Amino acid sequence: MNKKIKNKIKKLVTKSKVLFDEPMCRHTSIRIGGPADVFILIEDLDELKKIVIFSRKKKIPLFVLGGGTNLLVGDRGIRGIVLKLGRKFNWIRFKGTKVLAGASTPVQKLLKVVSEYSLSGLEFISGIPGNIGGAIVTNAGFPEKSIGDFISSVKLMTTTGKIITKERNALQFSYRFSSLKDKNLIILEVVLNNLTIRKKEDIKRRIAILLKKRRSAQPVSSPSAGCIFKNPRIASAGILIDFAGLKGLRIGNAQISTKHANFILNKGHAKFRDVIALIEKIKKRVYEVFRIKLEMEVERVGK
Ligand code: EPU
Repeated sequence: MNKKIKNKIKKLVTKSKVLFDEPMCRHTSIRIGGPADVFILIEDLDELKKIVIFSRKKKIPLFVLGGGTNLLVGDRGIRGIVLKLGRKFNWIRFKGTKVLAGASTPVQKLLKVVSEYSLSGLEFISGIPGNIGGAIVTNAGFPEKSIGDFISSVKLMTTTGKIITKERNALQFSYRFSSLKDKNLIILEVVLNNLTIRKKEDIKRRIAILLKKRRSAQPVSSPSAGCIFKNPRIASAGILIDFAGLKGLRIGNAQISTKHANFILNKGHAKFRDVIALIEKIKKRVYEVFRIKLEMEVERVGK
Protein backbone atom coordinates (compact mmCIF):
# COMPACT_ATOMS: atom_id res chain seq x y z
CA MET A 1 0.00 0.00 0.00
CA ASN A 2 1.43 3.37 -0.94
CA LYS A 3 2.36 6.08 1.53
CA LYS A 4 -0.25 8.54 0.24
CA ILE A 5 -3.08 6.14 1.08
CA LYS A 6 -1.57 5.41 4.48
CA ASN A 7 -1.36 9.14 5.25
CA LYS A 8 -4.94 9.64 4.15
CA ILE A 9 -6.10 6.85 6.46
CA LYS A 10 -4.18 8.40 9.35
CA LYS A 11 -5.98 11.70 8.72
CA LEU A 12 -9.41 10.06 8.54
CA VAL A 13 -9.21 8.64 12.03
CA THR A 14 -8.10 10.34 15.22
CA LYS A 15 -9.94 8.50 18.01
CA SER A 16 -9.18 5.02 16.67
CA LYS A 17 -5.71 3.44 16.73
CA VAL A 18 -3.98 2.97 13.36
CA LEU A 19 -1.02 0.62 12.99
CA PHE A 20 0.95 -0.03 9.80
CA ASP A 21 2.50 -3.41 8.94
CA GLU A 22 1.07 -4.83 12.13
CA PRO A 23 2.00 -8.52 12.69
CA MET A 24 -1.23 -10.50 12.75
CA CYS A 25 0.36 -13.11 15.02
CA ARG A 26 -0.37 -10.55 17.78
CA HIS A 27 -4.09 -10.78 17.01
CA THR A 28 -4.72 -14.49 16.44
CA SER A 29 -5.13 -17.05 19.20
CA ILE A 30 -2.80 -19.48 17.37
CA ARG A 31 -0.16 -16.70 17.31
CA ILE A 32 0.49 -17.10 13.57
CA GLY A 33 0.22 -14.54 10.77
CA GLY A 34 2.31 -12.00 8.89
CA PRO A 35 1.75 -8.24 8.74
CA ALA A 36 -1.45 -6.44 7.83
CA ASP A 37 -0.80 -3.35 5.67
CA VAL A 38 -3.08 -1.33 7.94
CA PHE A 39 -4.64 -2.42 11.21
CA ILE A 40 -7.27 -0.17 12.79
CA LEU A 41 -8.68 -0.58 16.27
CA ILE A 42 -11.98 1.25 15.88
CA GLU A 43 -13.13 3.40 18.81
CA ASP A 44 -15.70 5.56 17.04
CA LEU A 45 -18.70 4.76 14.86
CA ASP A 46 -18.25 7.73 12.53
CA GLU A 47 -14.63 6.82 11.94
CA LEU A 48 -15.67 3.27 11.15
CA LYS A 49 -18.09 4.62 8.58
CA LYS A 50 -15.41 6.87 7.06
CA ILE A 51 -13.00 3.95 6.69
CA VAL A 52 -15.65 1.68 5.16
CA ILE A 53 -16.59 4.34 2.60
CA PHE A 54 -12.95 5.24 1.88
CA SER A 55 -11.87 1.65 1.32
CA ARG A 56 -14.81 1.04 -0.99
CA LYS A 57 -14.05 4.17 -3.02
CA LYS A 58 -10.36 3.32 -3.31
CA LYS A 59 -11.03 -0.41 -3.81
CA ILE A 60 -8.86 -1.31 -0.82
CA PRO A 61 -9.70 -4.76 0.56
CA LEU A 62 -11.21 -4.71 4.03
CA PHE A 63 -11.01 -7.57 6.47
CA VAL A 64 -13.15 -7.51 9.59
CA LEU A 65 -11.46 -9.26 12.49
CA GLY A 66 -13.44 -10.66 15.40
CA GLY A 67 -11.47 -12.10 18.31
CA GLY A 68 -9.02 -13.86 15.95
CA THR A 69 -9.71 -17.15 17.73
CA ASN A 70 -10.93 -19.13 14.73
CA LEU A 71 -8.54 -17.74 12.18
CA LEU A 72 -5.42 -18.69 10.24
CA VAL A 73 -3.51 -15.80 8.68
CA GLY A 74 -0.88 -16.39 5.98
CA ASP A 75 2.82 -15.87 6.71
CA ARG A 76 2.84 -13.00 4.20
CA GLY A 77 0.00 -11.30 6.03
CA ILE A 78 -3.04 -9.40 4.80
CA ARG A 79 -3.13 -6.79 2.04
CA GLY A 80 -5.40 -3.83 2.67
CA ILE A 81 -7.08 -2.82 5.91
CA VAL A 82 -7.88 -5.01 8.90
CA LEU A 83 -10.58 -3.62 11.18
CA LYS A 84 -11.11 -4.62 14.77
CA LEU A 85 -13.71 -3.09 17.07
CA GLY A 86 -12.16 -1.69 20.23
CA ARG A 87 -13.24 -0.97 23.81
CA LYS A 88 -16.03 1.37 22.76
CA PHE A 89 -17.90 -1.71 21.49
CA ASN A 90 -17.36 -3.74 24.65
CA TRP A 91 -20.49 -3.24 26.79
CA ILE A 92 -23.51 -5.11 28.16
CA ARG A 93 -27.01 -3.86 29.00
CA PHE A 94 -30.19 -5.57 30.16
CA LYS A 95 -33.80 -5.04 29.08
CA GLY A 96 -35.89 -7.45 31.15
CA THR A 97 -34.65 -10.91 30.23
CA LYS A 98 -33.11 -9.63 27.01
CA VAL A 99 -29.38 -8.88 26.87
CA LEU A 100 -27.83 -6.24 24.63
CA ALA A 101 -24.09 -6.37 23.97
CA GLY A 102 -21.49 -4.55 21.91
CA ALA A 103 -19.83 -6.79 19.32
CA SER A 104 -16.35 -6.70 20.86
CA THR A 105 -17.58 -7.93 24.25
CA PRO A 106 -15.64 -11.10 25.12
CA VAL A 107 -17.89 -14.17 25.15
CA GLN A 108 -16.65 -15.16 28.62
CA LYS A 109 -17.33 -11.69 30.04
CA LEU A 110 -20.85 -11.84 28.63
CA LEU A 111 -21.43 -15.24 30.23
CA LYS A 112 -20.16 -14.00 33.60
CA VAL A 113 -22.31 -10.86 33.65
CA VAL A 114 -25.42 -12.66 32.36
CA SER A 115 -25.13 -15.34 35.05
CA GLU A 116 -24.59 -12.67 37.75
CA TYR A 117 -27.94 -11.36 36.55
CA SER A 118 -29.46 -14.83 37.19
CA LEU A 119 -30.14 -15.43 33.50
CA SER A 120 -29.62 -18.96 32.28
CA GLY A 121 -29.26 -20.48 28.80
CA LEU A 122 -25.81 -19.43 27.68
CA GLU A 123 -23.86 -21.79 29.97
CA PHE A 124 -22.91 -23.92 26.96
CA ILE A 125 -20.53 -21.17 25.77
CA SER A 126 -18.31 -21.72 28.85
CA GLY A 127 -14.67 -21.65 27.77
CA ILE A 128 -15.37 -20.47 24.20
CA PRO A 129 -12.79 -17.79 23.43
CA GLY A 130 -13.32 -14.72 21.25
CA ASN A 131 -15.91 -11.98 21.22
CA ILE A 132 -19.66 -12.04 20.73
CA GLY A 133 -19.55 -10.50 17.21
CA GLY A 134 -17.31 -13.27 15.91
CA ALA A 135 -19.24 -15.93 17.82
CA ILE A 136 -22.43 -14.89 16.04
CA VAL A 137 -20.95 -14.75 12.56
CA THR A 138 -19.52 -18.27 12.99
CA ASN A 139 -22.49 -19.48 15.06
CA ALA A 140 -20.16 -20.81 17.76
CA GLY A 141 -21.14 -23.51 20.20
CA PHE A 142 -21.70 -27.21 20.34
CA PRO A 143 -22.81 -29.23 17.34
CA GLU A 144 -26.32 -29.40 18.88
CA LYS A 145 -26.58 -25.96 20.51
CA SER A 146 -25.28 -22.68 19.16
CA ILE A 147 -25.29 -18.98 19.96
CA GLY A 148 -27.62 -18.38 16.97
CA ASP A 149 -30.45 -20.02 18.96
CA PHE A 150 -30.41 -16.98 21.26
CA ILE A 151 -30.27 -14.13 18.75
CA SER A 152 -33.17 -11.71 18.74
CA SER A 153 -31.60 -9.09 16.44
CA VAL A 154 -28.23 -7.86 15.18
CA LYS A 155 -27.21 -4.28 14.43
CA LEU A 156 -24.55 -4.01 11.75
CA MET A 157 -22.77 -1.78 9.29
CA THR A 158 -23.02 -2.73 5.63
CA THR A 159 -20.21 -2.46 3.08
CA THR A 160 -21.60 0.94 2.06
CA GLY A 161 -21.37 2.29 5.62
CA LYS A 162 -25.11 2.06 6.34
CA ILE A 163 -26.24 0.95 9.80
CA ILE A 164 -29.12 -1.53 9.77
CA THR A 165 -30.83 -3.86 12.23
CA LYS A 166 -31.57 -7.39 11.16
CA GLU A 167 -34.31 -9.13 13.08
CA ARG A 168 -34.17 -12.82 13.84
CA ASN A 169 -36.49 -13.80 10.97
CA ALA A 170 -34.10 -12.16 8.47
CA LEU A 171 -31.16 -14.27 9.69
CA GLN A 172 -30.28 -17.93 9.12
CA PHE A 173 -28.22 -20.03 11.46
CA SER A 174 -27.14 -23.66 11.18
CA TYR A 175 -24.19 -25.74 12.41
CA ARG A 176 -21.19 -23.34 12.33
CA PHE A 177 -22.93 -21.19 9.71
CA SER A 178 -24.77 -17.89 9.72
CA SER A 179 -26.12 -15.79 6.87
CA LEU A 180 -23.81 -13.01 8.15
CA LYS A 181 -20.71 -14.99 7.13
CA ASP A 182 -18.30 -13.97 4.32
CA LYS A 183 -20.14 -10.73 3.55
CA ASN A 184 -17.77 -8.27 5.20
CA LEU A 185 -20.62 -6.98 7.33
CA ILE A 186 -19.50 -5.38 10.57
CA ILE A 187 -21.52 -6.55 13.54
CA LEU A 188 -21.96 -3.65 15.99
CA GLU A 189 -24.47 -4.88 18.57
CA VAL A 190 -26.51 -7.95 19.34
CA VAL A 191 -29.68 -8.58 21.29
CA LEU A 192 -29.99 -12.01 22.89
CA ASN A 193 -33.23 -13.57 24.11
CA ASN A 194 -34.60 -17.00 25.06
CA LEU A 195 -32.91 -16.74 28.46
CA THR A 196 -34.63 -17.92 31.62
CA ILE A 197 -34.37 -16.79 35.23
CA ARG A 198 -32.57 -19.30 37.43
CA LYS A 199 -30.66 -19.37 40.72
CA LYS A 200 -27.19 -17.84 40.32
CA GLU A 201 -25.56 -20.73 42.20
CA ASP A 202 -27.12 -23.31 39.86
CA ILE A 203 -25.90 -21.43 36.79
CA LYS A 204 -22.39 -21.14 38.24
CA ARG A 205 -22.31 -24.83 39.13
CA ARG A 206 -23.28 -25.75 35.56
CA ILE A 207 -20.55 -23.44 34.17
CA ALA A 208 -17.93 -25.01 36.45
CA ILE A 209 -18.88 -28.52 35.29
CA LEU A 210 -18.73 -27.55 31.61
CA LEU A 211 -15.39 -25.77 32.02
CA LYS A 212 -13.91 -28.80 33.75
CA LYS A 213 -15.19 -31.05 30.96
CA ARG A 214 -13.76 -28.79 28.28
CA ARG A 215 -10.37 -28.52 30.00
CA SER A 216 -10.10 -32.28 30.32
CA ALA A 217 -11.05 -32.89 26.66
CA GLN A 218 -9.32 -30.01 24.87
CA PRO A 219 -5.74 -28.71 24.90
CA VAL A 220 -5.27 -25.36 26.61
CA SER A 221 -1.51 -25.30 27.19
CA SER A 222 -0.39 -24.25 23.67
CA PRO A 223 -1.89 -21.64 21.32
CA SER A 224 -4.44 -22.98 18.83
CA ALA A 225 -7.32 -21.84 16.64
CA GLY A 226 -9.84 -24.20 18.29
CA CYS A 227 -11.29 -27.04 16.23
CA ILE A 228 -9.81 -27.02 12.73
CA PHE A 229 -12.53 -29.06 10.99
CA LYS A 230 -16.30 -29.16 11.23
CA ASN A 231 -17.76 -32.38 12.52
CA PRO A 232 -19.10 -34.44 9.64
CA ARG A 233 -22.60 -35.85 10.21
CA ILE A 234 -21.30 -39.31 10.95
CA ALA A 235 -18.78 -38.63 13.78
CA SER A 236 -16.66 -36.05 15.54
CA ALA A 237 -13.74 -34.93 13.34
CA GLY A 238 -11.51 -35.43 16.41
CA ILE A 239 -12.36 -39.14 16.58
CA LEU A 240 -11.75 -39.61 12.84
CA ILE A 241 -8.33 -37.90 12.94
CA ASP A 242 -7.44 -39.80 16.11
CA PHE A 243 -8.49 -43.18 14.65
CA ALA A 244 -6.57 -42.38 11.45
CA GLY A 245 -3.51 -42.44 13.70
CA LEU A 246 -2.52 -38.80 13.32
CA LYS A 247 -2.39 -37.57 16.94
CA GLY A 248 0.93 -35.93 17.74
CA LEU A 249 2.03 -35.57 14.09
CA ARG A 250 4.32 -32.56 13.78
CA ILE A 251 5.42 -30.42 10.84
CA GLY A 252 7.86 -27.69 11.79
CA ASN A 253 6.53 -26.27 15.02
CA ALA A 254 2.88 -27.11 14.30
CA GLN A 255 1.54 -30.24 15.93
CA ILE A 256 -1.72 -32.18 16.01
CA SER A 257 -2.73 -32.22 19.66
CA THR A 258 -2.21 -35.50 21.48
CA LYS A 259 -5.23 -34.64 23.65
CA HIS A 260 -7.82 -33.74 20.99
CA ALA A 261 -6.94 -34.51 17.38
CA ASN A 262 -9.09 -31.71 15.90
CA PHE A 263 -6.71 -29.12 17.37
CA ILE A 264 -3.43 -28.01 15.79
CA LEU A 265 -1.05 -26.42 18.26
CA ASN A 266 1.62 -23.79 17.80
CA LYS A 267 4.58 -25.22 19.69
CA GLY A 268 6.65 -22.06 19.21
CA HIS A 269 6.92 -19.75 16.16
CA ALA A 270 5.01 -22.21 13.95
CA LYS A 271 4.34 -21.06 10.40
CA PHE A 272 1.05 -20.85 8.51
CA ARG A 273 2.56 -23.15 5.87
CA ASP A 274 3.27 -25.82 8.54
CA VAL A 275 -0.34 -25.69 9.73
CA ILE A 276 -1.62 -25.88 6.13
CA ALA A 277 0.66 -28.87 5.44
CA LEU A 278 -0.80 -30.64 8.50
CA ILE A 279 -4.34 -29.78 7.38
CA GLU A 280 -3.69 -31.27 3.93
CA LYS A 281 -2.18 -34.41 5.50
CA ILE A 282 -5.21 -34.84 7.76
CA LYS A 283 -7.68 -34.40 4.88
CA LYS A 284 -5.82 -36.92 2.72
CA ARG A 285 -5.42 -39.55 5.43
CA VAL A 286 -9.00 -39.29 6.75
CA TYR A 287 -10.27 -39.66 3.19
CA GLU A 288 -8.03 -42.70 2.59
CA VAL A 289 -9.15 -44.41 5.79
CA PHE A 290 -12.83 -43.42 6.06
CA ARG A 291 -13.73 -41.99 2.61
CA ILE A 292 -14.89 -38.83 4.41
CA LYS A 293 -14.02 -35.34 3.17
CA LEU A 294 -13.37 -33.07 6.15
CA GLU A 295 -14.41 -29.45 5.81
CA MET A 296 -12.52 -26.60 7.46
CA GLU A 297 -14.12 -24.82 10.37
CA VAL A 298 -11.39 -22.21 10.82
CA GLU A 299 -11.26 -19.28 8.46
CA ARG A 300 -8.17 -18.72 6.27
CA VAL A 301 -7.01 -15.34 5.10
CA GLY A 302 -3.89 -14.20 3.24
CA LYS A 303 -1.10 -16.30 1.80
N1 EPU B 1 -12.43 -37.84 20.80
C1 EPU B 1 -11.50 -38.81 20.57
N2 EPU B 1 -10.27 -38.44 20.13
C2 EPU B 1 -9.93 -37.14 19.94
C3 EPU B 1 -10.89 -36.16 20.14
C4 EPU B 1 -12.15 -36.52 20.59
O1 EPU B 1 -11.77 -40.00 20.73
O2 EPU B 1 -8.77 -36.89 19.55
C5 EPU B 1 -13.76 -38.22 21.28
C6 EPU B 1 -14.06 -37.72 22.68
O3 EPU B 1 -13.55 -38.57 23.64
C7 EPU B 1 -15.56 -37.65 22.68
C8 EPU B 1 -15.92 -37.32 21.23
O4 EPU B 1 -14.73 -37.58 20.47
O5 EPU B 1 -16.12 -38.90 23.00
C9 EPU B 1 -16.35 -35.89 21.02
O6 EPU B 1 -15.34 -35.01 21.48
P1 EPU B 1 -15.67 -33.56 22.13
O7 EPU B 1 -16.65 -33.72 23.25
O8 EPU B 1 -14.40 -32.89 22.40
O9 EPU B 1 -16.51 -32.85 21.01
P2 EPU B 1 -16.15 -32.53 19.51
O10 EPU B 1 -17.28 -33.04 18.68
O11 EPU B 1 -14.79 -32.97 19.14
C10 EPU B 1 -17.38 -30.21 19.50
C11 EPU B 1 -17.05 -28.86 18.91
C12 EPU B 1 -16.15 -28.09 19.85
C13 EPU B 1 -16.84 -27.93 21.19
C14 EPU B 1 -17.17 -29.32 21.74
C15 EPU B 1 -17.93 -29.21 23.03
C16 EPU B 1 -16.95 -29.00 16.47
C17 EPU B 1 -16.06 -29.14 15.29
N3 EPU B 1 -16.34 -29.06 17.65
O12 EPU B 1 -16.16 -30.94 19.55
O13 EPU B 1 -15.93 -26.82 19.29
O14 EPU B 1 -16.00 -27.24 22.08
O15 EPU B 1 -17.99 -30.03 20.79
O16 EPU B 1 -17.99 -30.49 23.63
O17 EPU B 1 -18.15 -28.82 16.32
C18 EPU B 1 -14.53 -25.30 18.09
O18 EPU B 1 -15.51 -25.05 17.41
O19 EPU B 1 -13.45 -24.69 17.94
C19 EPU B 1 -14.63 -26.35 19.09
C20 EPU B 1 -13.59 -26.77 19.75
